[in-house]
Amino acid sequence: MKKLMAANWKMYKTVEEGVQTATDLMQLLTSDSLQDREVLLCPSFTMLGAVGPILSKVPGCFLGAQNFYPAGQGAFTGEIAPEQLKALGCTYALAGHSERRHVLDEPDEFIGQKIVFGLHSGLNMILCIGETIAERQAGKVEEVLARQLAMGLANALSMATAKTLAVAYEPVWAIGTGEVAGPAEIVAAHAFVRAQLVSLLPEYGQKIRILYGGSVKPDNAGTIIHLDNVDGVLVGGASLQAKSFSQIVLA
Ligand code: PGA
Repeated sequence: MKKLMAANWKMYKTVEEGVQTATDLMQLLTSDSLQDREVLLCPSFTMLGAVGPILSKVPGCFLGAQNFYPAGQGAFTGEIAPEQLKALGCTYALAGHSERRHVLDEPDEFIGQKIVFGLHSGLNMILCIGETIAERQAGKVEEVLARQLAMGLANALSMATAKTLAVAYEPVWAIGTGEVAGPAEIVAAHAFVRAQLVSLLPEYGQKIRILYGGSVKPDNAGTIIHLDNVDGVLVGGASLQAKSFSQIVLA
């Protein structure tokens, strides 16, 4: 599988700004330069319709959503359904991002529902997991990752494949802080995630992509992307500028 280089723009940019950044990014990336890489942009809902056609010009670039509600349609004011996202060109979606777990208080069960519903709807899902600093200091990293994986995938085991599922390991203490996890911490966490995936999904666990996220920047991406069991990155802050994200994609 190609490495998946994903951008999470969070709640940044107007439509006009997003279109400009995506246009600049596509000029910096060509299908030749991508080779063993795929690129995923997850902008706000407001600009999915405008950014999608820009990405579709470069093979290997995909559009994703940061979130959705796990239902087909209905009376869910303010929410958005997978079918609505797919109609705008989304092929991927995130679930379980730390800001949704810790700022929006989404529980493991709800994240598991999103993974199942997203897969069922035909979206490729990225399950984000990661421990807080308190959990790390209490020696609970493996316990937390095992729980988040098991509950996130609880009802999805028959549907997840190496193409439809990726996992992003994002230690909460490294997100948006400038404090990147060290290579040894990343390798240990990814090896643990790999072992859990193999035991949960014997057929695909070895091949499911495991992304690292948390203060990935142009100057550390080259080291991180070549670590064992690192099959991509999920980038927040440094993905907001076309130049820095292109440097990460090509690192
Ligand atoms: P960051 O965010 O790169 O700004 O740390 C990563 C993420 O939230 O996915």
